[in-house]
Amino acid sequence: MNNTGVIFDLDGVIVDTAKYHYLAWKNLADNLGFEFTETHNELLKGVSRVRSLEILLDIGKVDLSEDKKRDILVAKNEDYLKYIYKMGANEILPGVENLLNTLDALGIKYVLGSASKNAPLILNQVGLFDRFRGIVDGNSVSKAKPDPEVFLIGAEKLNLKPECCVVFEDAIAGIEAANKANMISVGVGDDNTLSDADFNFKNLTEIPHNFFTEVISA
Ligand code: BG6
Ligand code: MG
Repeated sequence: MNNTGVIFDLDGVIVDTAKYHYLAWKNLADNLGFEFTETHNELLKGVSRVRSLEILLDIGKVDLSEDKKRDILVAKNEDYLKYIYKMGANEILPGVENLLNTLDALGIKYVLGSASKNAPLILNQVGLFDRFRGIVDGNSVSKAKPDPEVFLIGAEKLNLKPECCVVFEDAIAGIEAANKANMISVGVGDDNTLSDADFNFKNLTEIPHNFFTEVISA
């Protein structure tokens, strides 16, 4: 199937790093003296690091100088990386490896399309880096999701038209970006939250065996 390609989001689709982002942002909020809950954390999914800090500071009603924000972003990432360096293949989410094997067997190419600047490191930690034909990450884009840029660069790496690309995403901003890119969007997670997706699955173990051969080509 050379006319179909797949673009995977990373955080929340391949690995559950949202919990580590949460711990690092919560630590920061604790230090700044306000509460940051898991519900608040939902707002940061799929959002760039810089934008995440803006949302967090809005929640805490805290105003900081640009210098202080820069320092905080460095500190947050250092804290987050402490968890990332402990990650291994056991943290790959259920269904991911099966799905990659299926795509390989069908000859369907896949790349990564993530907002994270830590994406290559995380893929290396879990041993999946070499499986992807290309990596588009937070270092490669000038506009963050929900802008479609990350996925359009992914389509270029796949050498396919946007409408031939299937995007797997767990974030509202990511589904919006895929839809704007004119790609087939697949929401992974809560279908109420991701109601704008073309298809919805709770997780990757739920993808039917004929999804690529029949469902999306129908
Ligand atoms: C996204 C996550 O994949 O990457 C966001 O869903 C995160 O929560 C963003 O803020 C940026 O990640 P990083 O690793 O560059 O701080
Ligand atoms: Mg995600």
